[in-house]
Amino acid sequence: MKEGQPQAIHLKDYKVPPFLIETTDLHVELNEDETFVTATLRFTRNPDAENEKDLMLDGGKDLDTRLVEIDGRELLSNEYAIDDQSLTLFGVPDSFELKTKVAIKPQENTALEGLYRSGDMFCTQCEAEGFRNITWYLDRPDVMSVYRTTIDAEKKNYPILLSNGNAVARGEEGDRHWVTWEDPFKKPAYLFALVAGNLEFIEGTFETMSGRSITLQIFTESHNIDKVDYAMDALKRSMRWDEEVYGREYDLDIFMIVAVESFNMGAMENKGLNIFNTSCVLARPDTTTDAGYERVEAVVAHEYFHNWSGNRVTCRDWFQLSLKEGFTVFRDQSFSEDMGSETVCRVDQVQMLRAAQFPEDAGPMSHPIRPDSYIEINNFYTATVYEKGAEVVRMYHTLLGEERFRKGSDLYFERHDGQAVTTEEFTLAMEEANDADLGQFRHWYSQSGTPQVTVTGEYDSDAKTFTLDVEQFCPPTPGQPEKAAYHMPLAVGLLDSNGDDIAFTAEERDLATVRKDGEYTAVLHLREPKQTFVLGDVSEEPVPSLLRGFSAPVKLTYQYDRDQLMFLMKHDSDGFNRWEAGQRLAIDVIQEVVGQIQAGIEPMVDERIVRAFEHVLNEAVERNDDDGLDKAMIALMLALPSEQYLGELSEIVDVDSIHAAREEVRGAIARQLSGLFLSVYKLNKSEEAYAPEPTDIARRSLKNAALAYLMQPSDTEMVSLCVEQFEGSDNMTDTSAALRLLVNSASAEARDAKEKALTDFYNRWADEALVIDMWFQIQAACPLPNTLERVDALKQHEAYTLKNPNRARALIGPFCNANPVNFHDRSGSGYRYLADQVIELNGINPQVAARMLSPLTRWRRFDPGRQKLMKAELERILAQDDLSPDVFEIVSKSVEQE
Ligand code: BES
Ligand code: ZN
Repeated sequence: MKEGQPQAIHLKDYKVPPFLIETTDLHVELNEDETFVTATLRFTRNPDAENEKDLMLDGGKDLDTRLVEIDGRELLSNEYAIDDQSLTLFGVPDSFELKTKVAIKPQENTALEGLYRSGDMFCTQCEAEGFRNITWYLDRPDVMSVYRTTIDAEKKNYPILLSNGNAVARGEEGDRHWVTWEDPFKKPAYLFALVAGNLEFIEGTFETMSGRSITLQIFTESHNIDKVDYAMDALKRSMRWDEEVYGREYDLDIFMIVAVESFNMGAMENKGLNIFNTSCVLARPDTTTDAGYERVEAVVAHEYFHNWSGNRVTCRDWFQLSLKEGFTVFRDQSFSEDMGSETVCRVDQVQMLRAAQFPEDAGPMSHPIRPDSYIEINNFYTATVYEKGAEVVRMYHTLLGEERFRKGSDLYFERHDGQAVTTEEFTLAMEEANDADLGQFRHWYSQSGTPQVTVTGEYDSDAKTFTLDVEQFCPPTPGQPEKAAYHMPLAVGLLDSNGDDIAFTAEERDLATVRKDGEYTAVLHLREPKQTFVLGDVSEEPVPSLLRGFSAPVKLTYQYDRDQLMFLMKHDSDGFNRWEAGQRLAIDVIQEVVGQIQAGIEPMVDERIVRAFEHVLNEAVERNDDDGLDKAMIALMLALPSEQYLGELSEIVDVDSIHAAREEVRGAIARQLSGLFLSVYKLNKSEEAYAPEPTDIARRSLKNAALAYLMQPSDTEMVSLCVEQFEGSDNMTDTSAALRLLVNSASAEARDAKEKALTDFYNRWADEALVIDMWFQIQAACPLPNTLERVDALKQHEAYTLKNPNRARALIGPFCNANPVNFHDRSGSGYRYLADQVIELNGINPQVAARMLSPLTRWRRFDPGRQKLMKAELERILAQDDLSPDVFEIVSKSVEQE
């Protein structure tokens, strides 16, 4: 280790805070050059802490301290000390009032943590440790205080001044004005927020279950005020849902959302004043895709749900992050399932988990959902803490059932309201409310890695039993060579030869059956490394449907043959497993072609995949009049597994063969079923006005899935069809789908059309930042050769800037994460490109820079040539001066572990 390298913080070192802060009084004077923050804090010694005579407060190196006063007396220079990250007060009394005044420069804050500028407004982002860039404080989530905040700014440019809670006083003087906000709920500093700007807003009201009327407001800059109605509706739906499903009512009289253009993440749950990335709140049919609408609804819900799971009950320390994030993701997922199609949502969730979390858990950054240590907490807002964390909460739900889960959550909220707690409290509440034993279940919090579950089945025709032999194994991960067996729910069904569910029996303690028209599922409790389940009353040899609904976040192996998979695809009563069977079939067929390509044999695509797709398409045609959500499911069934997931399944990722094989299979399907694809396309075109309704979204997804296959060979006729959709569409879903297909088309016919479409699109939408982000994304994701040249040229585009995270991510993200053939080009040019971007961003916005790195950290999965190139780039980054702790942590962990 080099001298002065950032040090790790460990969970085992947790100590209660030395002092409590009863009240926090802030006065913020906003100016263009210098902002002054005066903080008056009422400290009392924490009775639970050891007595220490000095008190150390957190603060960033950019706090320019102008005053330190205790109980009205300014301290002498020998009564305190200031360094890069702390202010130490020597020999403090047991109870006192501290007053500090600092000057800060939000306009120079490109890291976007603390108080910063987004366009013409001032805003804050304090989670996880941004508050310390605003003022000296005990910036840790277990220090909870009541806040009173006065914002003072120039009237003309900042007519709107917002903070948490209720506005209790305001006044003006000359060309300045001020507003005082009071938040009656104790909160940790990470939930503090402040906004000042020239904003417009829309207003709504919500009547709570107890009859209170809540004012709802959404603020944006004036040019976006026409795009916030959908978020307002989504907010009302979320508030109602949390009352109905969790019995949780909103607490303040006002709830505000502010949209900002420059934001590191998606959105933030500050008490009563959520701050959103514009990308997660704005929606209008002609600028926003269906996926965008769904994202807005989910993020609005997620941040709203935090009011209970995160704010009223918060985290003791940042190791407990999954306590609020895993739980809240589970809550927003359940909400989305209730608003649309449960199965479609579940497929999306599992695809996400497999695309992001499984690779993370198999790589150098692998960590449990409750990590043991970190260097930079910002690096731990991960797919593991979020997505796997949500899966763990879902498993309580599956193991306990809906009602008992609710009893557990009721107890958790009631018992810990107003407290900062750990994941252990959550487990204890679930246990104690239900008299359940979750001892072994706790391994999910402490162990990293994705468990592998291997199942074999044997039918005994005399005994009429089907015996499942189940083995679980979790591979070693950094710091964890060996794992204890997990307790997990294995949801299982058995299909008879007609494809109907068999009503089998299972041992009493393992059985928690769900019967909904024709579905018969048993939730088996797997606990042992090797366990046998004997299922009885099985009238004939069944095809097992395993891990229904993806009941545990594991990799499941069962030796299905292709005919069985086709059978499950058609008949499984579990929608998720119908999709899963199709994916398994496609994987099997594509892997066979990969083998042929690697062996230099002429590729041969198994007819069965074409027949399976034909069956799906026929259903789509025959059942076109059903106005269900099935169309979205059909669209998902038509999507082959991604190249990344196929790579994830192989020991050494052969990027080029996987790409070629997948294209070969896609080509075979597209060629042989073109007539059906065209019928499906036509049947699902609609002249009706756009609506972001689940059934309409489903129809468009099916239509655009069909168009993608039609564009696979892209002859003149199909290119015109695509151009027609591009030009004639009234909504961004269809416009962007057509643009993407034109851009990705290799055919000569598409060449001119794509350049024209790109130019027209840019000119049409030059003033809509989020649409221009999409314009960058589509070009960066193009798998054709020369994409890097295009991406390089786009870096010089007048609309490009690394300072806006959305824009930076738009170009770098898709190229490095969704474009394997180009990113992994043998020359190493893709790797060099990413490293260059990370190095540049490191000096601007470390948090975003560190997040971009993940594709390079996966170097061990590639061939020796690529490994060497990837590692060289990581080492080049590591050798930079002034590396942020964020980037340092990820790079050093990736190169260290041999
Ligand atoms: N609390 C987070 C936002 C956050 C994350 C702030 C990291 C600071 C650092 C928020 O609740 C969140 O989880 N947002 C997600 C979206 C959500 C729908 C999963 C995000 O921003 O990506
Ligand atoms: Zn969250």
